[in-house]
Amino acid sequence: MPINRRIVIANLPQGGEISSSTFRMEDGEVPQPEPGTVLCRTTAIFVGSALRRVMGSYLQPGMLVMATGVARVVASRDASFSEGDTVLAPTGWQEYALLKPSQISAKLPSADNALDYLGPLGGSGLAAYHGLVTVGRVQASEVVVVSAAAGSVGQLAGQFARIKGARVIGVCGGADKVDVLTAKLGFHHGINYKEGNIQEELKAGCPEGIDLYFDNTSGPILEAALLQMKRGGRIVCCGRLSEPHDYDSEHVPAGPRGVPGLLIQRRISMLGLWAPDLAAEDEKARNEIRAWLESGELTRLVDITHGLENAPASLIGNLAGGNVGTRIVMLE
Ligand SMILES: NC(=O)c1ccc[n+]([C@@H]2O[C@H](COP(=O)([O-])OP(=O)(O)OC[C@H]3O[C@@H](n4cnc5c(N)ncnc54)[C@H](OP(=O)(O)O)[C@@H]3O)[C@@H](O)[C@H]2O)c1
Repeated sequence: MPINRRIVIANLPQGGEISSSTFRMEDGEVPQPEPGTVLCRTTAIFVGSALRRVMGSYLQPGMLVMATGVARVVASRDASFSEGDTVLAPTGWQEYALLKPSQISAKLPSADNALDYLGPLGGSGLAAYHGLVTVGRVQASEVVVVSAAAGSVGQLAGQFARIKGARVIGVCGGADKVDVLTAKLGFHHGINYKEGNIQEELKAGCPEGIDLYFDNTSGPILEAALLQMKRGGRIVCCGRLSEPHDYDSEHVPAGPRGVPGLLIQRRISMLGLWAPDLAAEDEKARNEIRAWLESGELTRLVDITHGLENAPASLIGNLAGGNVGTRIVMLE
């Protein structure tokens, strides 16, 4: 009798610090499909730092850790799915997921390149595309800066900007990551924010100023970018990785300096991105990203770990900057 290994929240992280004691592995029975349901075997899950944000809100002790996964249909009691289909679905951190067809995001054309749907054709790719193209309106010859540039969203945003003809500068936390961005992904310049003075490095890296800043971090990197923005520049706020995991109206982080003064003086616009709001544009985005993958202009950068039992360590490592690219845990 096969068992369904699954990882649930054991304890909410104290002070936002996720550790191995946050999680607990459980063995359960593999569910049997009822009429109108589909039983899926998870083959891979996406592990992103956004999980930290939902601890204590959507995720409570005892709940299955949520995740988007790629899965294979092993039994179907719905006419629209057959055994052997590959699907993209909110499988969570478990080996088997019993899903209603309405919960399944997409039936994938084949198992080949299915992992693309956890990266460039998935949530990271859509956030990067909508931030950079749909609302950021990147233009050829512009100067684009991306923070958390070796992360899942950042490396894609930077590559999309390069393909669109912009000059791209990536900010990330390590000399090895800078090498990957410039040597492998075609970024024009990389800055290691953990060494030196980020303000001076940005001045030297883009002396003519920044047209478009894709912000994944907030904090000191946003503040430094603001000071280097051109007149009429745009800032797309995608993430706030440097800020405390949670805050309320009494505990709002300070800064950045220069708001609103610099915005007014230099006619800078700053926009908060929530990619799901732009879902009507997803198909257009996916078509363009797919074409870049097929032409070889876009490089896949995945950071793969094997084994469901290693998912907690994979997430903890990600939050500490251990990932280079899109972090995926393979279950098969
Ligand atoms: N708005 C939207 O619609 C939307 C959609 C998807 C994702 N997001 C957000 O986009 C952001 C990026 O997501 P992701 O999946 O690309 O993340 P990720 O792959 O998990 O990358 C996280 C990286 O951020 C960097 N980082 C961590 N703490 C930092 C700090 N204090 N200062 C600077 N860099 C730090 C680390 O790399 P270093 O080595 O460079 O430090 C780490 O590897 C997240 O905030 C996520 O929640 C937003």
